[in-house]
Amino acid sequence: MKIFLDTADVQKIKDWAKMGVINGVTTNPSHLARAGGDPTKVVKEICSILKGGEISVEVTKDEPKDVYKQAQEIADLAPNILVKVPCHKKYYAIIKQLVAEKIKLNITLVFTPLQALMMAKLGVDYVSPFVGRWNDIDVDGIAMLEEINHIMEIYGFKTQVLAASIRTVRDFHDSVMIGCDAVTLPVSVFEKSLESPLTDKGIAKFNADWKKLGITKFP
Ligand code: E4P
Repeated sequence: MKIFLDTADVQKIKDWAKMGVINGVTTNPSHLARAGGDPTKVVKEICSILKGGEISVEVTKDEPKDVYKQAQEIADLAPNILVKVPCHKKYYAIIKQLVAEKIKLNITLVFTPLQALMMAKLGVDYVSPFVGRWNDIDVDGIAMLEEINHIMEIYGFKTQVLAASIRTVRDFHDSVMIGCDAVTLPVSVFEKSLESPLTDKGIAKFNADWKKLGITKFP
């Protein structure tokens, strides 16, 4: 189960890279716009912070021929980049070509199981189903994710399922239980998921009990 941070915040990525549980980062145009500065520099810095990880970087062009060229240019920025291309039928032919060129792809803005099926048939590395944007309009995003994961399993596709647009710790937990290959999390959701008041209480109790012994040297 891979865990990615859904952000372009370089400081947060640096902080968490040291901790050993993060497998990569997913950026998108909104994250890069929020991060500020030169997006090429930001992307290169993220790639160098997590050299062994997978860093997703999205195209910003619209016309298929421009998306194709930009995808090649983005892939050339670092060896650990996955290029994000939106899941639209106008891009099928260029996705096929990029796969043939061995450019690693993460197909974004996936909202239906049949969209994901077509991407798996094209042989992409990842599909990113957007859970939260369905939940936002009162449609069960986790049910959609479950169906996509099921399709990959029953037909034995090598395409990995990356749960995206995760808004809550509950979405994270459900994605893990479904057996997705990866999940990308806003830093706030990730950090919240690590907490338990019982752990804090337990540490305080052990420390208090230990102090009662009055021992100054151990071991
Ligand atoms: C990541 O790959 C997606 O771009 C991101 O999860 C979208 O999240 P949002 O729906 O909260 O914008």
